[in-house]
Amino acid sequence: MSELRILTPGLGAVSSTLMAGVMLARRGLGRPIGALTEYGELDGQPINDLVVALDDISFGAWDPFNETAYDVAKRSGVLTPEHLAAVADDLREISPKSAVFDETWVQALAGAPNTKTGDSYMDLVEQITDDIESYRRDGERLVMVWCGSTEAYHHPTPVHQSLTEFELGLKNSDSAIAPSQIYAYAAIRAGVPFANGAPNVTVDVPALEQMAEQYGVPIAGKDFKTGQTLLKTVIAPGLKSRRLGIRGWFSTNILGNRDGLVLDHPDNFRSKEITKLGVLDALLEPAKNPDLYGDLSHEVRINYYPPAGDNKEGWDNIDLVGWLDYPMQIKVNFLCRDSILAAPIVLDLARFLDMAKTAGNKGVQNWLGYYFKSPHPVEGEPTEHDLFVQERILLDEIRRMSAGLTTT
Ligand SMILES: NC(=O)c1ccc[n+]([C@@H]2O[C@H](COP(=O)([O-])OP(=O)(O)OC[C@H]3O[C@@H](n4cnc5c(N)ncnc54)[C@H](O)[C@@H]3O)[C@@H](O)[C@H]2O)c1
Repeated sequence: MSELRILTPGLGAVSSTLMAGVMLARRGLGRPIGALTEYGELDGQPINDLVVALDDISFGAWDPFNETAYDVAKRSGVLTPEHLAAVADDLREISPKSAVFDETWVQALAGAPNTKTGDSYMDLVEQITDDIESYRRDGERLVMVWCGSTEAYHHPTPVHQSLTEFELGLKNSDSAIAPSQIYAYAAIRAGVPFANGAPNVTVDVPALEQMAEQYGVPIAGKDFKTGQTLLKTVIAPGLKSRRLGIRGWFSTNILGNRDGLVLDHPDNFRSKEITKLGVLDALLEPAKNPDLYGDLSHEVRINYYPPAGDNKEGWDNIDLVGWLDYPMQIKVNFLCRDSILAAPIVLDLARFLDMAKTAGNKGVQNWLGYYFKSPHPVEGEPTEHDLFVQERILLDEIRRMSAGLTTT
């Protein structure tokens, strides 16, 4: 199987941890735990046999700060000095290309120096396209996974409703078009599958959904399901299965990395709040189960707390109701590591999107909802949040694709 290059707009904690992890695992200096494509099985066969090998993966990135992957990994403080030293030379070779960046979308990073300028947004698309092509070596396939900062929440406007309007908007530099959408447009046009790891609105608009269908490119999103929400989508289906009532679910986090700094701004937090809040309603279906979940109050907070670094701490308080309405409580305290949980998701997504492209899939890949807090909806189809149902859907699609790939 030929090579795959994973392109990440955003060279931050998640992408540098992914890159270092792949390099360490290749040398047997660390185990790629958390990746289904490394440890999963399908009908007795390792899923690893169906996807591109770790040895055949390389990287490329864009970032508004001009630091190498080594500098970023060191600053992010996720990996030990021993791990970093073992792959330092390889990480130093990865420098980001200048970014399409507009500080109105990420105010916390105002003044970032490594950015592109152009006559119009369409001109910026052409520059990203040149970058993409410069990364494409002979026979190499590409995928793009947005690992950039969370952009401020903006509701889609008429410019997002059709590809024609969107292309006109790019020519007129319509301020409703987000930087992430400029990358996504360039990727789809270049035939490169795209996934969105952050909660901002990017490919989940009709214009880019249509474009992905038209160009035969798989797309997926959004917002990696890593810590608190991962547990929510495990615990809530379990409680619902036993018909236990839930009256309240309060979730709070402290986070001290650059992601936490960006999310400290209310406009950027709003994007995250929407993807985090949607999950429980979809899982518990209060309209169908008003007695048990009708008056559920669900709150989510994220606080920027620098000493925590990348080691996010999440607390959940769940107020349950049992037999004869007697109240009970569950407290969850998850001391997790954000990028350690997210890196294997990026690896799996890149490999599965690559497989999907080869299998001829196009448009929204909602079978990848397993990896996202807010799975990209498909009109007329229910959005599944239960992790175990999502896993079954994912495996079914891998089975279907691999059968097609071996018979053609
Ligand atoms: N780690 C997790 O568990 C997790 C879970 C869900 C979602 N996410 C999302 O993944 C993204 C990456 O997380 P992280 O911890 O690596 O954050 P980070 O802040 O370390 O890295 C993000 C990088 O994106 C860059 N950036 C900002 N705007 C950009 C643009 N327009 N083009 C290119 N680069 C741009 C920033 O300079 C920064 O280096 C965030 O949006 C975060 O919310 C992370």
